[in-house]
Amino acid sequence: MFAVTAALIDADDPLSGLEMGERPDPVPPDGWVTVTVKAASLNHHDVWTLRGVGISADRLPMVLGCDAAGLDQDGNEVIVHAVIADPDAGGGDETLDPRRGLLSERHDGTFAAQVAVPRRNLVPKPAALSFEEAACLPTAYLTAYRMLFEKSGVQPGATVLVQGAGGGVATALILLGRASGYRIWVTSRSEAKRERALKLGADQAFPAGARLPERVDVVMESVGQATWAHSVRSLRPGGRIVICGATSGDASPAELTRIFFTQLSVTGSTMGTRDQLARLARYCEQTGVRPLIDRVLPLDHARDGFAAMIDDNQFGKIIFTV
Ligand SMILES: NC(=O)c1ccc[n+]([C@@H]2O[C@H](COP(=O)([O-])OP(=O)(O)OC[C@H]3O[C@@H](n4cnc5c(N)ncnc54)[C@H](OP(=O)(O)O)[C@@H]3O)[C@@H](O)[C@H]2O)c1
Repeated sequence: MFAVTAALIDADDPLSGLEMGERPDPVPPDGWVTVTVKAASLNHHDVWTLRGVGISADRLPMVLGCDAAGLDQDGNEVIVHAVIADPDAGGGDETLDPRRGLLSERHDGTFAAQVAVPRRNLVPKPAALSFEEAACLPTAYLTAYRMLFEKSGVQPGATVLVQGAGGGVATALILLGRASGYRIWVTSRSEAKRERALKLGADQAFPAGARLPERVDVVMESVGQATWAHSVRSLRPGGRIVICGATSGDASPAELTRIFFTQLSVTGSTMGTRDQLARLARYCEQTGVRPLIDRVLPLDHARDGFAAMIDDNQFGKIIFTV
């Protein structure tokens, strides 16, 4: 089958390790099934893999891709939950299984004609969502869903600051937050992205690092070092940072004095459970929210999508169709 693979790790030139070509069809072990991929979406995770973050060279070659929507062996339309974990190991939350991984970490991923996954990782795709829209949900949208509805601790009407407006997680936070009655403020380094964020439903958009008109209840952090100090300074006393990523690197200094003096909380968030993915799909069906797609490319043009993400030249999700 045709697949897009990480063949080499290069921290400075991630595209040099990207390979496209024939790979053996997956052979699902007991309890696993094969999904025929219709659409898959690109996440920063795929760039991290090419840079050697979260994977070691001895696991290569590895088919990239965490997210997919497609057809199961009986022809049902499904969305693939990307978390490969023991459902009983985390006390009912498989993302707490210390041995959990995502597709493309220990098992071949979704940038291929077919992918093998545990049967329990399949979630029905609502007919109202296209395969391209459904393929956005398993990582970026599920992460945003958990950050907003489980980890933020605030109710609709609260003010939520999203750092780095154009990313997959960030645009998901704007759409889900807006549809649920949160006041969404965003930052971006790019004026064009700030304008697009406003059109998407953000209430206000600020240049990265700008002083805000008032302090916010929650900050959604996925940028890390470049925005961390601003996130800490932007919170009201008792506010919370929910962090799911650190694209620009780990934060230093940690702003410990400000965190204890203003009694802030810092909460980590990673992916979501299979059941949350099923609820997210239903949420999209019920609210009419549809993931924002930046561009759709055939899988054999995946290199262009990776280049756009590495250059920060996207607004919304990049999709590959098979
Ligand atoms: N924990 C989890 O389960 C989980 C799930 C999904 C994602 N993540 C992580 O979250 C991060 C975002 O993921 P994604 O897929 O949404 O990535 P993405 O689409 O590549 O996000 C790119 C955004 O990050 C912002 N950004 C990047 N470098 C920046 C810098 N130096 N300064 C300011 N902003 C910067 C940009 O904002 P502007 O250009 O608008 O300024 C850009 O729009 C990644 O690190 C990813 O690994 C974690």
